[in-house]
Amino acid sequence: MSMLEERLREIGQDHIADLVKIGSPLISLKRLEQDLQEIDSKTLVDLIKGKGMFTPPKGEIEPPEVIPAAFAVTQDARVSRDRGETLITQGKVAVVMVAGGQGSRLGLGGPKGELEISPVKKKSLFQLHSEKILALERRYNVEIPFLIMTSRANDTETRRFFEYNAFFGLDRDNVHFFVQGMIPSITKEGKLVISRDGGLFMNPDGHGGTLDALAKSGLLKMIGDRGVDLVFYFQVDNPLIKMCDPLFIGLHAEKGAQMSSKVVEKRGFDEKVGVIAKVDGRTRVIEYSDLGEEYMYLEDIDGRPVYRAGSIAIHVLDRKFIEDIVLKQTNLPYHKAIKSIPTIDQDGRPVEIMGIKFEKFIFDALPFAERSLTLEVKREEEFAPVKNKTGEDSVESAIILQNRLFRSWLERAGSMVEDDVKVEISPLFALDVEDLLSRASEVPSRISQDLYIE
Ligand code: UTP
Repeated sequence: MSMLEERLREIGQDHIADLVKIGSPLISLKRLEQDLQEIDSKTLVDLIKGKGMFTPPKGEIEPPEVIPAAFAVTQDARVSRDRGETLITQGKVAVVMVAGGQGSRLGLGGPKGELEISPVKKKSLFQLHSEKILALERRYNVEIPFLIMTSRANDTETRRFFEYNAFFGLDRDNVHFFVQGMIPSITKEGKLVISRDGGLFMNPDGHGGTLDALAKSGLLKMIGDRGVDLVFYFQVDNPLIKMCDPLFIGLHAEKGAQMSSKVVEKRGFDEKVGVIAKVDGRTRVIEYSDLGEEYMYLEDIDGRPVYRAGSIAIHVLDRKFIEDIVLKQTNLPYHKAIKSIPTIDQDGRPVEIMGIKFEKFIFDALPFAERSLTLEVKREEEFAPVKNKTGEDSVESAIILQNRLFRSWLERAGSMVEDDVKVEISPLFALDVEDLLSRASEVPSRISQDLYIE
């Protein structure tokens, strides 16, 4: 019996072992071996047996402590912001962008980061994010390591895109790609599924895979060697990201937090978004589907949802906290989803079956933090996710939101922007409204046609 066949039998996958034994053309030994190498036997058996799965928290749920968005304009905020700026200037901060997802709701073939998203110049998400980092490097006269998580399906294309675009002006030595892990799907009966290329059907292991992938790639050590203490984490699909927000970083450091989160106020009781709450004294995200109605519809004295701190997947994590999680092999739980899985039938014909896909979520690291900070920000200033083809959270809505924000900055700088005109400000001209106000004299007093300011 070959080693491959033996391993498959050991983990109860005789249906594939039999195909290996007879040398079935439905199987590619190379692919199968490569796929099985991705995952250790214990994790695989756990998955099949349903161990290590996420279970909704059962403890006492309490509202979280949240720093309100209004704090940003106070005198105290200035002190925290200064602290954040100092940390950035000292090279203590690295950026991690996760871009390994499949963008299935958008039906994308390639990386989401290539989507043309800015209102006038149609810059890609990758370009916008890179230019924000470049602008910060110039502002603080520092090099900021930019770590980009990809996955098997989009790694080559992502690297090619950056190469082709000369890293959007960044020093290529500061841009590091790392590939996240893959995880096999199973049937409802706990059987691995053969993919159409003769291996196993697998998907990227979720943004919760970031921590392991950072360690495995050696990049966690690399940033440690460079003196980085903090990681600014964000997701590729938000063009309004306030990159390395100094206020957020400063507050995190002042509190001695290990993992911090940004939130926006939920639009209403029913908005389908995970909320930050405290469970048994630890801060965590409770997904919409896990928040019982008694909490979801709980009102405060102003009639607003008590649990209104909607998570927007922007975090600061201590490098040491990540190291701890990885070293102690604190496995983040897997979340299950029943999804359609492309496979082949016994005659090799393509078919779709309903099976179980697994994913880990980054926010499941939160309850491991002894200290955590939650900062509320204004949705219209910092959050325009691109998830769907049309309507809410689409390219179209993200363009409208960016345009609206730039327009508001220009109006504050004294410019009159005519209706139906699109405006865009390069991050290299002004990263935020304060930057723009300091350059107000360079801005036209009246804007009557689409304008890109660089
Ligand atoms: P989403 O969960 O919205 O997934 O990821 P997605 O791939 O963008 O879109 P759908 O759900 O397939 O339609 C949020 C962020 O997390 C990243 C994505 O690239 C996106 O930036 N992500 C998600 C990963 O990096 N790896 C994963 O395995 C999943």
